[in-house]
Amino acid sequence: MSPMRIFFTLASMIIIFAALIHVMTNAFLTTSSDPMVSAFDLSRPRAPSDARAIKNPIPVSGDAIANGKAIYEGKGNCYVCHGIGGYGDGEGGVMLSPPARNFTDIQFQRLRTDGELFWSIKYGIPDTGMFSFIPRHITEDEAWMVIHYIRTLGHEDRS
Ligand code: HEC
Repeated sequence: MSPMRIFFTLASMIIIFAALIHVMTNAFLTTSSDPMVSAFDLSRPRAPSDARAIKNPIPVSGDAIANGKAIYEGKGNCYVCHGIGGYGDGEGGVMLSPPARNFTDIQFQRLRTDGELFWSIKYGIPDTGMFSFIPRHITEDEAWMVIHYIRTLGHEDRS
């Protein structure tokens, strides 16, 4: 291989490496000036506006919350990304960009209606790790009970 050829091979490898680093930092850096990240801002609704009005058909009760918790920590596998405590710190959730939603965030709890949460669980959130769970993983009624449970996770001091 001629010295010239070696030089060009090395140069192109450096460019490819730099491009990879660029893509990776864009995907992982979470500065507010990053347009990718602001597109994932909490204040941007994840569900279409009609979803806001959908009501939870399951009355809230100790049993419904306990069932919701069992599904969250069991067959729904929600904890894998959202974390056992709901902080969005599950093993799968921290690797994602945007990360899994932190359910303890009181701002999140105030901004979203049950109908919006249901919509995201049913259809998923485009361009994120949140995929559709109904009907493949859980039923609609199970999702409504998980929502009752998620509502117990918000903390006032986490806003
Ligand atoms: C593979 C990881 C993963 C799993 C498993 C997962 N989620 Fe998510 N979820 C996400 C991510 C990532 C987001 C945040 C996306 C965003 O910022 O828009 C999210 C967001 C949400 C939201 C918030 C929607 C909103 O309006 O902001 C709800 C509600 C939700 N998930 C419910 C669940 C439930 C219930 C389960 C279990 C049945 C579950 N998720 C399982 C990754 C996951």
